[in-house]
Amino acid sequence: MSEQSTLSLYLPDAGATDALAGLLAMTQPESAIVHLEGDLGAGKSTLARAWLRALGVDGPIRSPTYTLVERYRLRDGREALHLDLYRIGDAGELEFLALDDAAAALWLVEWPERGLRALPPAGLRVALAVEADGRRCRLHGLGSAGERWLADLAPHCRLGAFPEP
Ligand SMILES: Nc1ncnc2c1ncn2[C@@H]1O[C@H](COP(=O)(O)OP(=O)(O)O)[C@@H](O)[C@H]1O
Ligand SMILES: [Mg+2]
Repeated sequence: MSEQSTLSLYLPDAGATDALAGLLAMTQPESAIVHLEGDLGAGKSTLARAWLRALGVDGPIRSPTYTLVERYRLRDGREALHLDLYRIGDAGELEFLALDDAAAALWLVEWPERGLRALPPAGLRVALAVEADGRRCRLHGLGSAGERWLADLAPHCRLGAFPEP
Protein backbone atom coordinates (compact mmCIF):
# COMPACT_ATOMS: atom_id res chain seq x y z
CA MET A 1 0.00 0.00 0.00
CA SER A 2 1.32 3.41 -0.89
CA GLU A 3 1.44 6.04 1.81
CA GLN A 4 -0.97 8.93 1.59
CA SER A 5 -1.79 11.90 3.76
CA THR A 6 -4.43 14.54 3.20
CA LEU A 7 -5.18 18.12 4.16
CA SER A 8 -8.49 19.90 3.52
CA LEU A 9 -8.54 23.71 3.36
CA TYR A 10 -11.22 26.28 2.64
CA LEU A 11 -10.04 29.07 0.31
CA PRO A 12 -12.54 31.94 0.69
CA ASP A 13 -11.28 33.96 -2.28
CA ALA A 14 -8.68 34.00 -5.04
CA GLY A 15 -6.23 35.71 -2.69
CA ALA A 16 -6.35 32.64 -0.45
CA THR A 17 -5.57 30.45 -3.48
CA ASP A 18 -2.55 32.67 -4.15
CA ALA A 19 -1.48 32.42 -0.49
CA LEU A 20 -1.69 28.63 -0.57
CA ALA A 21 0.40 28.61 -3.76
CA GLY A 22 3.06 30.64 -1.94
CA LEU A 23 3.14 28.14 0.91
CA LEU A 24 3.36 25.21 -1.50
CA ALA A 25 6.25 26.89 -3.31
CA MET A 26 8.00 27.54 0.00
CA THR A 27 7.66 23.95 1.25
CA GLN A 28 8.01 21.97 -1.97
CA PRO A 29 10.69 19.30 -2.17
CA GLU A 30 13.75 19.59 -4.43
CA SER A 31 11.65 18.37 -7.33
CA ALA A 32 7.89 17.91 -7.37
CA ILE A 33 5.23 16.56 -9.69
CA VAL A 34 1.85 18.06 -8.88
CA HIS A 35 -1.52 17.08 -10.33
CA LEU A 36 -4.15 19.85 -10.25
CA GLU A 37 -7.66 18.42 -10.42
CA GLY A 38 -11.09 20.06 -10.60
CA ASP A 39 -13.69 21.30 -13.06
CA LEU A 40 -13.30 24.33 -15.30
CA GLY A 41 -13.24 27.39 -13.05
CA ALA A 42 -12.13 25.50 -9.94
CA GLY A 43 -8.97 27.60 -9.64
CA LYS A 44 -6.25 25.30 -11.01
CA SER A 45 -4.64 27.98 -13.21
CA THR A 46 -4.90 30.58 -10.44
CA LEU A 47 -2.92 28.27 -8.16
CA ALA A 48 -0.38 27.41 -10.87
CA ARG A 49 0.21 31.05 -11.80
CA ALA A 50 0.75 32.17 -8.20
CA TRP A 51 3.05 29.19 -7.59
CA LEU A 52 5.23 30.10 -10.60
CA ARG A 53 5.32 33.74 -9.50
CA ALA A 54 6.43 32.66 -6.01
CA LEU A 55 9.33 30.75 -7.61
CA GLY A 56 10.50 33.86 -9.43
CA VAL A 57 8.72 33.83 -12.82
CA ASP A 58 8.12 37.49 -13.62
CA GLY A 59 7.37 37.39 -17.35
CA PRO A 60 3.99 36.49 -18.84
CA ILE A 61 2.39 33.24 -17.73
CA ARG A 62 0.27 31.93 -20.59
CA SER A 63 -2.38 29.27 -20.37
CA PRO A 64 -1.04 26.03 -21.86
CA THR A 65 -4.53 25.07 -23.06
CA TYR A 66 -3.50 24.96 -26.73
CA THR A 67 0.23 24.32 -26.47
CA LEU A 68 -0.29 21.60 -23.80
CA VAL A 69 2.90 22.76 -22.07
CA GLU A 70 4.62 26.02 -21.15
CA ARG A 71 8.14 26.04 -19.73
CA TYR A 72 9.54 28.57 -17.26
CA ARG A 73 12.98 29.39 -15.91
CA LEU A 74 12.91 29.72 -12.13
CA ARG A 75 14.87 31.95 -9.80
CA ASP A 76 17.24 29.06 -9.00
CA GLY A 77 17.96 28.51 -12.72
CA ARG A 78 16.00 25.30 -12.97
CA GLU A 79 12.92 24.75 -15.07
CA ALA A 80 9.21 24.39 -14.31
CA LEU A 81 6.63 22.83 -16.61
CA HIS A 82 2.99 23.94 -16.62
CA LEU A 83 0.73 21.54 -18.48
CA ASP A 84 -2.97 21.71 -19.30
CA LEU A 85 -4.20 18.49 -20.88
CA TYR A 86 -7.83 19.56 -21.30
CA ARG A 87 -7.58 19.47 -25.09
CA ILE A 88 -5.28 16.51 -25.49
CA GLY A 89 -6.59 13.92 -27.94
CA ASP A 90 -4.58 10.98 -26.71
CA ALA A 91 -2.03 10.54 -23.95
CA GLY A 92 0.41 9.56 -26.73
CA GLU A 93 0.56 13.25 -27.78
CA LEU A 94 2.55 13.90 -24.63
CA GLU A 95 5.36 11.69 -25.86
CA PHE A 96 5.94 14.07 -28.79
CA LEU A 97 6.63 16.87 -26.35
CA ALA A 98 9.67 15.00 -24.98
CA LEU A 99 8.74 15.77 -21.41
CA ASP A 100 10.86 13.08 -19.80
CA ASP A 101 12.66 15.99 -18.27
CA ALA A 102 13.94 14.71 -14.96
CA ALA A 103 15.78 18.01 -14.43
CA ALA A 104 12.57 20.01 -14.01
CA ALA A 105 12.13 21.34 -10.50
CA LEU A 106 8.36 21.37 -10.80
CA TRP A 107 5.55 19.96 -12.91
CA LEU A 108 2.13 21.57 -12.51
CA VAL A 109 -0.38 19.50 -14.46
CA GLU A 110 -3.98 20.57 -15.05
CA TRP A 111 -6.34 17.80 -16.20
CA PRO A 112 -3.77 15.08 -15.42
CA GLU A 113 -6.42 12.37 -15.72
CA ARG A 114 -6.35 12.92 -19.52
CA GLY A 115 -2.70 11.98 -19.81
CA LEU A 116 -1.98 9.70 -16.88
CA ARG A 117 -0.44 6.96 -18.99
CA ALA A 118 2.32 9.32 -20.18
CA LEU A 119 2.90 11.32 -16.99
CA PRO A 120 5.35 10.61 -14.20
CA PRO A 121 3.60 9.72 -10.92
CA ALA A 122 2.54 12.65 -8.75
CA GLY A 123 3.97 13.47 -5.33
CA LEU A 124 1.03 15.76 -4.62
CA ARG A 125 -2.56 15.78 -5.86
CA VAL A 126 -4.48 19.01 -5.40
CA ALA A 127 -8.25 18.69 -5.85
CA LEU A 128 -10.18 21.98 -6.10
CA ALA A 129 -13.97 22.41 -6.07
CA VAL A 130 -16.39 25.32 -5.78
CA GLU A 131 -17.81 25.64 -2.25
CA ALA A 132 -20.01 28.59 -1.26
CA ASP A 133 -18.27 31.73 -2.61
CA GLY A 134 -14.83 30.13 -2.41
CA ARG A 135 -13.11 26.82 -3.09
CA ARG A 136 -12.56 23.61 -1.18
CA CYS A 137 -9.00 22.38 -1.64
CA ARG A 138 -7.99 18.83 -0.78
CA LEU A 139 -4.29 18.07 -0.81
CA HIS A 140 -3.12 14.47 -1.05
CA GLY A 141 0.55 13.77 -0.42
CA LEU A 142 1.62 10.59 -2.19
CA GLY A 143 4.54 8.42 -1.14
CA SER A 144 6.95 9.30 1.63
CA ALA A 145 8.12 12.56 0.00
CA GLY A 146 4.51 13.68 -0.45
CA GLU A 147 3.68 12.82 3.15
CA ARG A 148 6.66 14.79 4.42
CA TRP A 149 5.67 17.74 2.25
CA LEU A 150 2.17 17.91 3.74
CA ALA A 151 3.60 17.53 7.23
CA ASP A 152 5.80 20.59 6.52
CA LEU A 153 2.92 22.52 4.98
CA ALA A 154 0.24 21.86 7.59
CA PRO A 155 1.59 24.08 10.40
CA HIS A 156 1.80 27.07 8.02
CA CYS A 157 -1.84 26.54 7.02
CA ARG A 158 -2.98 26.34 10.64
CA LEU A 159 -1.78 29.86 11.38
CA GLY A 160 -5.26 31.14 10.59
CA ALA A 161 -4.80 31.84 6.91
CA PHE A 162 -7.60 29.50 5.84
CA PRO A 163 -10.47 29.66 8.35
CA GLU A 164 -13.33 27.22 7.75
CA PRO A 165 -16.59 28.98 6.73
N1 LIG B 1 -10.52 30.44 -3.65
C1 LIG B 1 -11.22 31.09 -4.59
N2 LIG B 1 -12.41 31.63 -4.31
C2 LIG B 1 -13.14 32.25 -5.27
N3 LIG B 1 -12.73 32.38 -6.57
C3 LIG B 1 -11.54 31.85 -6.91
C4 LIG B 1 -10.73 31.18 -5.94
N4 LIG B 1 -9.59 30.74 -6.58
C5 LIG B 1 -9.71 31.13 -7.87
N5 LIG B 1 -10.87 31.80 -8.09
C6 LIG B 1 -11.38 32.35 -9.36
O1 LIG B 1 -11.92 31.31 -10.16
C7 LIG B 1 -11.85 31.67 -11.53
C8 LIG B 1 -11.40 30.49 -12.37
O2 LIG B 1 -10.08 30.22 -12.04
P1 LIG B 1 -9.06 29.37 -12.95
O3 LIG B 1 -7.83 29.32 -12.13
O4 LIG B 1 -8.98 29.91 -14.33
O5 LIG B 1 -9.77 27.93 -12.99
P2 LIG B 1 -9.34 26.58 -13.77
O6 LIG B 1 -7.92 26.70 -14.22
O7 LIG B 1 -9.53 25.50 -12.74
O8 LIG B 1 -10.31 26.43 -14.91
C9 LIG B 1 -10.96 32.89 -11.61
O9 LIG B 1 -11.78 33.99 -11.86
C10 LIG B 1 -10.32 32.98 -10.24
O10 LIG B 1 -10.06 34.31 -9.85
MG1 LIG C 1 -7.01 26.29 -16.11
